[in-house]
Amino acid sequence: MNKKISNICCIGAGYVGGPTMAVIAHKCRNINVTVVDINEQRIREWNSENLENLPVYEPGLNEIVQDRRGKNLFFSTDIAEAIHKSEMIFISVNTPTKTYGIGKGMAADLKFVELCARTIGDEANGDKIVVEKSTLPVRTAESIRTILKSAGSKYEFEILSNPEFLAEGTAVADLYNPDRVLIGGDNTDAGKQAVDSLVNIYATWVPRERIITTNVWSSELSKLTANAFLAQRISSINAVSALCEKTGANVDEVASAIGADSRIGKKFLKSSVGFGGSCFQKDILNMVYLCRYFGIPEVADYWEQIIKLNDYQKSRFSRQIINSLFNTVSGKKISFLGWAFKKDTNDTRESPAIYVACDLLTDRAEIHIYDPKVRAEQISKDVKYLLEQRGFGKTETDELAALLHVYTEPYPAMDKAHAVAVLTEWDEFCTYDWKKIYENMKKPAFVFDGRNILDRDYLEKTGFNVKCVGG
Ligand code: NAD
Ligand code: UGA
Repeated sequence: MNKKISNICCIGAGYVGGPTMAVIAHKCRNINVTVVDINEQRIREWNSENLENLPVYEPGLNEIVQDRRGKNLFFSTDIAEAIHKSEMIFISVNTPTKTYGIGKGMAADLKFVELCARTIGDEANGDKIVVEKSTLPVRTAESIRTILKSAGSKYEFEILSNPEFLAEGTAVADLYNPDRVLIGGDNTDAGKQAVDSLVNIYATWVPRERIITTNVWSSELSKLTANAFLAQRISSINAVSALCEKTGANVDEVASAIGADSRIGKKFLKSSVGFGGSCFQKDILNMVYLCRYFGIPEVADYWEQIIKLNDYQKSRFSRQIINSLFNTVSGKKISFLGWAFKKDTNDTRESPAIYVACDLLTDRAEIHIYDPKVRAEQISKDVKYLLEQRGFGKTETDELAALLHVYTEPYPAMDKAHAVAVLTEWDEFCTYDWKKIYENMKKPAFVFDGRNILDRDYLEKTGFNVKCVGG
């Protein structure tokens, strides 16, 4: 199946499907790329005239979409048609943690992937290369193959694993200049040819030595492992932050000292209120589930500790706010700077801000939020979902959610506040006039810097009580 690929389809127009396909379309102008989704609103947003309304915010993305949309980049809800005309089909749908049945709370829910496989099997009108772009448990390709074969199709399918390593907020830069591209395929003639077809696409802009090819299982497992290692670093430095707070050591100084060792490296050692995002937690839980499934509980426990520590870090931050504000936040105005799980994205999935907000709302705080990119409806939805997960009934959830106030400007969000909590590391927070903010706050005025981005000495000189993560 060493085809020259002229038409690509990507099922799933989310944070991965959208940016990834936009970059392929931008770099490979001879390939038509169609991104499809069952979510009609999402596709409408991808097609919207006003680029501010694209469903995904990523620096640099609007420009690429504007450049390629309608030329060789298309967004559509017609999944069947896109499958018919494509030689290569990426599956880039969500793979959330299961919320029901066997593996509830741990295993990846593969129902969306399975549905894609069934649709491809039913709609195929020729041989197809199917590429797993979603993050999947090791050996999922086997299930996809079984489903495709059992559709009774007379055509051949090759299944490749091509996990995505982009980080949100830097998606376009990561896609332009990836550390590596990983492609797993079968060690058969047809498998190798399919791998070559995908290698040739990436080789348009990625140096060959950065395109790694492996067998399918190694590729699937490498993705879970990469996320587990990255999250492990954050939980490790956050564990140290708790020790720093007890001992007078400073976690940023410790991180910088250990990061100078080239074996450890400087990156991903920023202590914080905890990691968020749609993937770290779900992928580690998935890894833990797989280990238990394969009968290696010791290994499962090892990885699970990363999640436990992250939960501890988030609740420790909430407790610190309540303790510092004289053991009660009831009726107090607490301002949140940031709601997204990291800067430069509008994504709020698993954002630590949601957990801290729910902890404080449970104590009846009034929470006033400013985030440069997140919409008010999303914030309310996030909070209501978590409160319901925590067992609050509808009436109480609505009452608590009424204590949320969302602003489109930062200064009013902090006016007459008892405390400001920094939940996302947006650059603009460092440029604010903190003297003016101090003057307009209740005294004693507190800043809880959950991202360690503000100038602590300056804030303290201004009069604030400042608490950072890790001393
Ligand atoms: P997402 O929720 O933003 O997007 C997934 C999209 O798939 C949704 O728009 C949904 O409507 C659509 N979809 C679901 N089932 C469908 C079906 N049967 N047919 C058509 N469309 C369907 O998810 P995402 O963040 O883009 O993540 C997708 C996958 O990529 C996940 O497995 C994730 O773990 C992985 N991943 C995500 C990131 C990231 O930064 N978000 C990075 C690397 C890998
Ligand atoms: C992460 C990985 O970095 C990507 O390689 C991977 O493709 C992706 O998950 C995925 O599979 O979804 P992402 O979650 O978008 O990317 O963003 P990160 O930069 O990894 O940040 C994750 C969380 O960790 C954020 O809440 C961030 O604030 C936090 N973080 C990160 C820290 O607290 N400290 C750090 O040093 C780094």
